Amino acid sequence: MKRGPKDYLAPGPRSETEMGITYDHIDDYLYGLAPPRDRLLEKMEESAESRDVPIIGPLVGRFLYNLARASQSKSVLEVGTAIGYSGIWLGRAVSPRKGSVTTIEKDPARVDEAEKNIAEAGLKNVIKVVRGDALKVLPSLKDEYDLVFLDSDKEIYPAAFKECQRLLRKGGLFVADNALWGGDVAKGGTSAATRAMIRFNKEVSGFPGMSTVILPLRDGVLVSLKE
Ligand code: DHB
Ligand code: MG
Repeated sequence: MKRGPKDYLAPGPRSETEMGITYDHIDDYLYGLAPPRDRLLEKMEESAESRDVPIIGPLVGRFLYNLARASQSKSVLEVGTAIGYSGIWLGRAVSPRKGSVTTIEKDPARVDEAEKNIAEAGLKNVIKVVRGDALKVLPSLKDEYDLVFLDSDKEIYPAAFKECQRLLRKGGLFVADNALWGGDVAKGGTSAATRAMIRFNKEVSGFPGMSTVILPLRDGVLVSLKE
C-alpha cells in the first residue's frame, strides 16, 4: 500500500480498502491546532517522517502526556520504544513527580537512537531503555506500573496485553496504539497484523475488570482502566 509523506501521522489502510479511519481535512485541522513542539521533538518528527518510522506524532503524544499527568502516574512501562518519541512525552509527564519510564525495544539500532534522543531531552535519569524481545522481558518484570503503553509489533499485542495487564496496578491505565490499524480491523482484514489486532481489541474489550474504549485518533488509541 502506497504511503504518503504525512502518513506517519495518520496511517491509512494496510490492505486494499477504500479509506482509513479519519478524514484528511479533519486531521489537517487537528494537527494545525497542535502547538509547536520544542526543537528536539520537531526534529524527531521530521526525521521519522523522512524515513517512514511510525511514531505516534504530536496529538497522541499530547494525549499520552495528559493521561499520565491526570492519573498522577509515577511509574510507566512502554512496550516498543522506536526512536524514543513517545517515551519523551511520557518521561516529561512523570518527571515533575520524580517518576520513571521503562521502555522495551528489540532493535539495537533503535535502542541506540532512542538513547541519544533521551539524553538530548535531558531524561537519562527518567527513562530506562531495556533492549530485548518484549515477550521475553515482560515475564521477568515484577514491579507494578501506573500506566502501560503498548506500541510494539502488532503480532505480539494479544500476548503482550496479558503481561501488561498483570503488571498494571489496580486503578492504572493500559493504553495501546494502532488499535484501528488503518480501519482494517473493522473490515475483517486477514493479514497477520490485522488478525492480531482484531483478536487484541476483542480480548481487551471483554477482559474482566478492564474498562475499555477505543478512540479514533490517528490510527486508533485504546484506553483501558484496570478497575
Ligand atoms: C506502523 C506501526 C505503528 O506503531 C504505527 O503507529 C503506525 C504504523 C506500521 O508498522 O506500519
Ligand atoms: Mg504505533
